[in-house]
Amino acid sequence: MRKVQDYYFKKAKKENYPARSVYKLEEAQKKYRFLQTGNGVLDLGCQPGSWSIYAARIVGPAGLVVGVDLQEGKKISIAKAAEIVWFCDDIMADYIIEKIQKTEKDFQTILSDIAPRTSGNKWVDQQQSLNLARRVLELAGELLESGGNIYVKVFEGEDFREFVDSVRKSFKTVKIVKPKSSRSESREVFVLGMGYLKP
Ligand SMILES: C[S@@+](CC[C@H](N)C(=O)[O-])C[C@H]1O[C@@H](n2cnc3c(N)ncnc32)[C@H](O)[C@@H]1O
Repeated sequence: MRKVQDYYFKKAKKENYPARSVYKLEEAQKKYRFLQTGNGVLDLGCQPGSWSIYAARIVGPAGLVVGVDLQEGKKISIAKAAEIVWFCDDIMADYIIEKIQKTEKDFQTILSDIAPRTSGNKWVDQQQSLNLARRVLELAGELLESGGNIYVKVFEGEDFREFVDSVRKSFKTVKIVKPKSSRSESREVFVLGMGYLKP
């Protein structure tokens, strides 16, 4: 296991990504191709920035990546990639939709790699992860274009199925993704919803 982790850590370093979590997005993107040239991408829980950088490269200069995180990120710009705009804020804040919409009204893809600060109590952590994932779905209701996609991290456990069912009601196709780069002992999985059925 440690060998596998070292492999992704080294790979991220070599490819100039600040975190190996980038491969949890790359694997799904290579299989399902939900990020496309020119897309507007909202990256929730974006720091230290790997997913934003990867998405900016995929969508290219005609696209835009807007990221939100509790932690501050330094402004970066990457050649032949989309502009990246990062906000330091809480996705649970009630003003967050208005704040995001000042930069971009709606998006073709919403990503969330948000992880709650772990408490040591598995049940509490899982419920917090679900609350954050539910918030991502709520934000999608306001910020995601019809036909758009979400890719959201959730800790599996009680009420996980109920969350997946709520995604199924709003998206044409739903996949549960457990990337190879995600530790097998971790309960994190990613829910991919493609083809948003905007009410
Ligand atoms: C696993 S990291 C994301 C890694 C990122 N995808 C990357 O590839 O660099 C999870 C992030 O979620 C952020 N986070 C947790 N709760 C949040 C909240 N309520 N609002 C915004 N960001 C949050 C944390 O600050 C942390 O930076």
